[in-house]
Amino acid sequence: MEAGGRRRRVAALSAALLALSALSALALLLLSPPALRAGSALPPGLLEELRQRRRDLRRLAAGGAAAEGGLRCGDVRRAAGGAVLGSGFTKVVVRAALAGGGAVALKSVHGAGREVRQCEQRYGAPAGCRRLAAYKLLKEVTLLRRLRHPGIVQLHGQCYDSGGETEAGVTAVLELGAPLEMIQLLQTPWEERFKICLGLVELLFYLAHSPLGSIVLLDFQPRQFVMVDGNLKVTDMDDASTEELSCEEDNDCTLDFPTKSFPLRCSSAGKCEGINEKRNLFNAYRYFFTYLLPHSAPPALQPFLSDILNATGNLRYGINETLRAFEKVLHLYKSGLYLQKRPLLLKAEAYKCWPSYSHLGCLLSVHSPEEAAAICSSQPHCQSFIITQQRTWTGRPLASFQSSPTDLIPDTTAIVYIKRSASLGRRL
Ligand SMILES: Nc1ncnc2c1ncn2[C@@H]1O[C@H](COP(=O)(O)OP(=O)(O)O)[C@@H](O)[C@H]1O
Ligand SMILES: *[C@@H]1O[C@H](CO)[C@@H](O)[C@H](O)[C@H]1NC(C)=O
Ligand SMILES: *[C@@H]1O[C@H](CO)[C@@H](O)[C@H](O)[C@H]1NC(C)=O
Ligand SMILES: [Mg+2]
Repeated sequence: MEAGGRRRRVAALSAALLALSALSALALLLLSPPALRAGSALPPGLLEELRQRRRDLRRLAAGGAAAEGGLRCGDVRRAAGGAVLGSGFTKVVVRAALAGGGAVALKSVHGAGREVRQCEQRYGAPAGCRRLAAYKLLKEVTLLRRLRHPGIVQLHGQCYDSGGETEAGVTAVLELGAPLEMIQLLQTPWEERFKICLGLVELLFYLAHSPLGSIVLLDFQPRQFVMVDGNLKVTDMDDASTEELSCEEDNDCTLDFPTKSFPLRCSSAGKCEGINEKRNLFNAYRYFFTYLLPHSAPPALQPFLSDILNATGNLRYGINETLRAFEKVLHLYKSGLYLQKRPLLLKAEAYKCWPSYSHLGCLLSVHSPEEAAAICSSQPHCQSFIITQQRTWTGRPLASFQSSPTDLIPDTTAIVYIKRSASLGRRL
């Protein structure tokens, strides 16, 4: 209830922010590029880098809807302390409160980050280097504006620091997320880890067929993603590219990773066929699927998951087939079909009450009371269980397993199942 209310407030505010139409980053670049005015004082190497980034940005912005936004940074009150949520080579992200309530993430250039520092060492031009880094953030803002997907962090607007509406002071106002904690994720139930992998596959499907063409995330790592309400979202888009590698022959098209390389075909159009899609998919395999997908999965689903791991690990599947394979697993899981197929696989040695949905007890999602009964009877500690009213994201109810009948929580709506020596009885 509360979370929903907060979301609505943020949504309403972001609409208000976007409605505040002023000079946008795009309009600034196309109408009054300050780089040209201040440019003469900059070292030629830096000027060339600035030009390249501006070209890159214009190309991405071309054909997009006119950008709105351009609110004042004063509209977004920095929360007490402005807690830093994370930082990378180029950008720093802080938490902030909107004037009307609701929390957002503010992303701006990381003045002390590696990108700006290395540029300063090279060119000794702090202002120009800040602007060079700001182009990356502007590119990200442009991409976030043109791409809409549940797997991409939402852009609420953008604003400029008090120093005037210059590119270097640009700040993106983003949906607030929580940085990805891989170690923590490994301890969540399989169903939640599967959701993250499925979300990633849906994102990669969208990127492969995006309105801007096939998009590759060149810097693809867990730290470029955040979690919002249990959903995975990409936040770092400045290293995304819509270009597919050009080639003359197949030999020009090798997709290299530290542990593996894949020879690809050079198409008649002179592009390495599907290289962007394949790079994303293999990265998803090596950073996400191998860690999150297999362990403590329902045993009957394991052959399907092994096939997904094998087919993405050697790029036998493209993103379309991968998505289809994930949807099939989801269907089997939701419908409980995997139980009919091999009901006896839910054996004692396969079952441990970990990872549980609750720290306090043994809370697992089940398809039906029958599945819960099978789990309980296979577990020496289990004496009884309750099918609760709570449901997971797939709609499966959570069952609470108990070690002794005296632990039972009285609840008029719950059915309590009690183990009777070998067989299972049922009482109210
Ligand atoms: N919307 C967000 N909510 C919370 N944390 C975020 C958000 N966006 C980014 N972060 C955190 O900030 C870090 C830096 O952002 P990122 O865009 O990756 O910058 P860089 O381009 O410098 O790597 C990320 O690794 C992530 O931990
Ligand atoms: C995939 O399976 C094939 C045979 O079925 C095997 O030779 C290959 O090593 C497997 N590859 C991966 C990445 O698991
Ligand atoms: C994958 O699916 C998309 C969208 O449905 C479609 O346009 C495309 O042709 C498919 N590609 C392949 C290789 O099947
Ligand atoms: Mg990053």
